[in-house]
Amino acid sequence: MAPILSLSSASQRRPLWFRTYRFFSQHIRSTFFLLILLFTIVNIYLNISFDFLRPIPKPPAEPVDRRLIGGVGIRSKSTLGNGSRSGSGTEKGKEDSSLGQAFPIWKTRWLQDQELEDPEAEGVREEIAKKIKGEAERTLDIVYTWVNGTDAILKDVKEKYKEISELFLYFKNNTRPTNNPNINPKNREPPLVGNGKGDQTIHRFRDNNELKYSLRSIAEYIPEKMLGRIHILTTEVPDSRSGQAVGQVPEWLDLGKVDEKVRLVKHREVYDNTSVLPSFNSLSIESQMHHVSDLADTFIYMNDDIFFGLPVDTSDFWTPLYGFVFHLTNEIIDPAIPSLGISPNVGEWQSLQYTNYLLSKQFGARHRAYLSHIVHIMNRPILDEIQSIWPEEFDKTASHRFRGEGQAQEINMAFFMAHYVMERLRETQLTSYWKYRLDKNQDGKLDWEEREELVRMVEEYDETLPKVVNRRKAVPFPIDPTFKSFLQEPDKKLESVGISWTGRTNYVQSGMDGYPFMIKGADLSQSSSNQYSRQPSSTRTEPSRRQCQFNIDFCLGLQFRNKTAPAIDSSVGKESLFERLAFTEYHCGDCLLHIVRRRSTKPGMSSVMPLDQASEAFSQVANDMSRYNYVIGRSQFTFMQLTTGDKSEAGLKRLLARNQTETYFCVNDDVPDSPLIAKRVRGLFAGFLETRLPHPSPWEKLS
Ligand SMILES: *[C@@H]1O[C@H](CO)[C@@H](O)[C@H](O)[C@H]1NC(C)=O
Ligand SMILES: *[C@@H]1O[C@H](CO)[C@@H](O)[C@H](O)[C@H]1NC(C)=O
Ligand SMILES: *[C@@H]1O[C@H](CO)[C@@H](O)[C@H](O)[C@H]1NC(C)=O
Ligand SMILES: *[C@@H]1O[C@H](CO)[C@@H](O)[C@H](O)[C@H]1NC(C)=O
Ligand SMILES: *[C@@H]1O[C@H](CO)[C@@H](O)[C@H](O)[C@H]1NC(C)=O
Ligand SMILES: *[C@@H]1O[C@H](CO)[C@@H](O)[C@H](O)[C@H]1NC(C)=O
Repeated sequence: MAPILSLSSASQRRPLWFRTYRFFSQHIRSTFFLLILLFTIVNIYLNISFDFLRPIPKPPAEPVDRRLIGGVGIRSKSTLGNGSRSGSGTEKGKEDSSLGQAFPIWKTRWLQDQELEDPEAEGVREEIAKKIKGEAERTLDIVYTWVNGTDAILKDVKEKYKEISELFLYFKNNTRPTNNPNINPKNREPPLVGNGKGDQTIHRFRDNNELKYSLRSIAEYIPEKMLGRIHILTTEVPDSRSGQAVGQVPEWLDLGKVDEKVRLVKHREVYDNTSVLPSFNSLSIESQMHHVSDLADTFIYMNDDIFFGLPVDTSDFWTPLYGFVFHLTNEIIDPAIPSLGISPNVGEWQSLQYTNYLLSKQFGARHRAYLSHIVHIMNRPILDEIQSIWPEEFDKTASHRFRGEGQAQEINMAFFMAHYVMERLRETQLTSYWKYRLDKNQDGKLDWEEREELVRMVEEYDETLPKVVNRRKAVPFPIDPTFKSFLQEPDKKLESVGISWTGRTNYVQSGMDGYPFMIKGADLSQSSSNQYSRQPSSTRTEPSRRQCQFNIDFCLGLQFRNKTAPAIDSSVGKESLFERLAFTEYHCGDCLLHIVRRRSTKPGMSSVMPLDQASEAFSQVANDMSRYNYVIGRSQFTFMQLTTGDKSEAGLKRLLARNQTETYFCVNDDVPDSPLIAKRVRGLFAGFLETRLPHPSPWEKLS
């Protein structure tokens, strides 16, 4: 006993540092684990962000390189719409998109103060409601792109074009077995995605009669008063006997009914340059869809794998009061130009990134939110406008017979439409404030008195900010009671003028409340290019919880606050101070807009719009605000991919059970090209569609 005791007492006599050292060196793994645990807990508890652990942010894709669009403050009357195609479309709705015509007074009052009544005139309300309702009752058209990829002749044609497509030639020349051990995958140049797996585009075109059922869902769930015409864009194939090109026709479609409500439109009729046809590239076809003749101004674009699942109404897509309804997700698209190898299997992502690259060059290099894969609201005059700004990019996209040709630099129309509108509303608002509010005397310069107003406004705002701002903390900022959101019971407002509200789409954010994706906790003393890799705050940040600290010296330069400095140019063109504020350092513009917008005493744009209501500027601003008006909406929907048999069966069953909750559902055929699986899944899918949508639409042949 004694020796042991003496041993232990001897060890206790050793210095503390030695004992500690020995303990930890004997338990090195546990120690390491403990340290990591401690680190994690402290990190979570204190919400510390370790900046040094973040990847070094990349610089923006390219400096802002704006093309001339015109618009408020710049537009010469003829700029807008100059690029629009003559002969396309009708005059419907033109009163909204051209200047020089009387802008409805009710719309002005609505945008400015969100008022629908005129206190001075009795009975006017009825009158106004009638006008608004009249506008709301404009029907919406629907555009589909459809191709029967199962058609054997089309398959032959496609193979023929593959043989002369540079994309597939390249692919063919570089085909090497993937499992050849002699080839170091790292040395492959360029990457050979899908190598050895054959054509991965088959399922993209396989026909499962989706269109038939998608039309059934329209007949079932879209009220007749809302539905304009349905335009189905189709490809042409050579007739087996005469060899002449004929448009594909869905075999179940009753041709006797065609041209009333449902129209078949051949690609040839909409392409600017028909020598690029036939096209097997949906991005190419979409880039021309707004050229459909007699297309309504506002229309819905959808793929045939999308189905309505519950009754909807116009207010689920667009209203004269709140504008377009865009469905955005929290996923984001990088602003940099996509770096690509050549591959015949590019997905949708490259086109989104390329489109964001174009948007970033025009409006600032930022991440932009991805659109939900459901229906997309579109506007023909706005798409014409976009095409007139990026004509080469449209031509290039249209000329790619297969998706991914030409380095996959292809535009994505739905993404373009939504984000272009969002950017243009923001631009209109900022320009209006800068040019017609701040430059009070309209002399094209900001003298000290005018600048002082902004300085004072920012100072007053700063006083309302909490003293210590933990910028990255996840807890929401406190509500700012001063902010009067544009979204105040939109359902009641709409119903008060007779526009029905189904409750299927929740309006979560209005563009009238500022840019929805203001970077949370942005540092306005530094360039946006240092922080552009940050995520946009999700749409769930209500405008009354937005916060920012505007830095006048960084955003507007050191002379702005200098009393004795000469007046500053207030123009909004290239290389102006405004361009820096609004686009190069877009976080500055977002913040300033928020601060200005917050000053409206009513839930409208009164603090942003020009003071002189009789001026031309005022009607220009009102016009453009109405043109680019939008909300971000949320609806219940399911996106499902059919892959293996068992998974598909379970998924379709679940979807069937949700027949009372999903406003939309999308079922995507991603079945591998194995005949056995394909056969089983096709059977399951057909059964599902027939069960879910059993009533034939009026446009089907009677069987
Ligand atoms: C409109 O487009 C035509 C043809 O491209 C061009 O000649 C004309 O100068 C343009 N007008 C304006 C005002 O930009
Ligand atoms: C593919 O290979 C053929 C024959 O080796 C060659 O003539 C052709 O230029 C190549 N094409 C491409 C796109 O690399
Ligand atoms: C697609 O083409 C195949 C083969 O020609 C045909 O059997 C099928 O009925 C077509 N589908 C539709 C919807 O027209
Ligand atoms: C139409 O497309 C073809 C093939 O890409 C091209 O050679 C031609 O120059 C285009 N025509 C016009 C008018 O752009
Ligand atoms: C303010 O502007 C005047 C005139 O340009 C200049 O002389 C002075 O140095 C400026 N003051 C500061 C603090 O920049
Ligand atoms: C919805 O699904 C449930 C369960 O599958 C079924 O009982 C019900 O009849 C369905 N309702 C409709 C309207 O199809």
